Amino acid sequence: MCDRHHRAIVASMATMTDHVTPPVGAGPWGRLFAAIYDPVLWAGELAGMRSRRRDLLALARGRTLELGGGTGLNLPYYPDDLDELIVAEPAAPMRKRLEKAVRRSNRTATILDAAAERLPMDDGSVDTVVSTLVLCTVDQPVVVLDEIRRVLRPGGRLLFVEHVRADSAWLAAWQDRLEKPWRRFAEGCRCNCATVALIEAAGFTVRHRSEGTWRAMPAIVRPLVSGTATQRQGHASSLPPGAHDCGPARTSSLLRNAARTSQRTVPETTNAVAPLVKCPAAAASSIAAHQRSARRGVMTPPSISSVTWRPRTSRKKLGS
Ligand SMILES: C[S@@+](CC[C@H](N)C(=O)[O-])C[C@H]1O[C@@H](n2cnc3c(N)ncnc32)[C@H](O)[C@@H]1O
Repeated sequence: MCDRHHRAIVASMATMTDHVTPPVGAGPWGRLFAAIYDPVLWAGELAGMRSRRRDLLALARGRTLELGGGTGLNLPYYPDDLDELIVAEPAAPMRKRLEKAVRRSNRTATILDAAAERLPMDDGSVDTVVSTLVLCTVDQPVVVLDEIRRVLRPGGRLLFVEHVRADSAWLAAWQDRLEKPWRRFAEGCRCNCATVALIEAAGFTVRHRSEGTWRAMPAIVRPLVSGTATQRQGHASSLPPGAHDCGPARTSSLLRNAARTSQRTVPETTNAVAPLVKCPAAAASSIAAHQRSARRGVMTPPSISSVTWRPRTSRKKLGS
C-alpha cells in the first residue's frame, strides 16, 4: 500500500440503461434525509451503536466491500491493515458526505456509485462484505444477498448489523402498521424485515450473532442483530430471485413475486466509480475489475476520467 500518497480518482462509467426504479436518494427528501442522517442517529450512536460498529468492523479482513456506506459512520472502525476498502453508495447526497468523511479520516478507500443489487466486482473477489442498516433499505434484499454470495470468495464473510422484525407479536404488529410511513420517512427502510432469517434462507450460515437494542431510537427499529455469516458451499439460495418482501408474514407474497420477477432489475445509478485512494495501484485494480465485468457483459464498459485529491498540505496531480 502506498500510505504516503493521498490521491483521488474519479472514474465515470457510462449510465446503465436497464434501470427500472428512480435513482436512490434523488429528490428533495433524499437530500434532506442525507443532511439529517447523522443528527438523527447521533443519540443512538452514543447509546451503543458505535461500539457495535467497532466490535463488528474489527473483524473485517483483506479486500473489504461496504454496501450502502451512507455518511461514512463505519469508517473510523476498520482495521488499518485492510488490503483494500471499497465503499458502495448509490445515493448522491449520501455519497457527497461519504467522500468528505473519507477525506477527514485520512484513510484509503474507494467510493463506488453502485447499488448493491448489481456490484461492479468480479466473482469471488472480496474477502469481507459489510452491511450495516442496509439490507432493510435495499429494494430487493434477495437479489442483494445473491450478489453478496457472488462477490465473496469462498470462506469470505458477511459482517452485518441490521434492525429486524421484533420477536414480540405486539411490536411486530406495530412494525407492520407503521411500515409505510416509516419507509417514506427513512428513504426506503423497512422496519419489519426478518433480515437474519432472510440471510440464512439466502444460503448463508450465521456464525456469530449478537442481539440487542438500538437505544435512543424509535421502538419499531430497536430490535437489532449483528453478526457474521459465511456462504454455505454447494447450497444455493432457497429464495427466489427478484423477491422483494422480507418478513415471515410475507413469504407467500414473496413466492408470488418470484413467479413474476424472474429477471433481475436494478435501481438507476449513474454507475460512477469515485475512488478516494492513497495508492493508485488500488484504484487501478478496482477500475480493472470494473472493466473485466464490462467485458463479461455484466455492465456497460466504462469511460474513465480522473481527478486527483490530496490533503491541503500536499496537493499534487496524480502521476506527477
Ligand atoms: C440506513 S442507511 C445506512 C447507512 C450506513 N450503512 C450506516 O450504517 O449508517 C441505508 C443506506 O443504504 C443506501 N442504499 C439504498 N438503496 C441501496 C441499494 N440498492 N444498494 C446499496 N445501498 C443502498 C442508502 O443510500 C443509505 O446510505
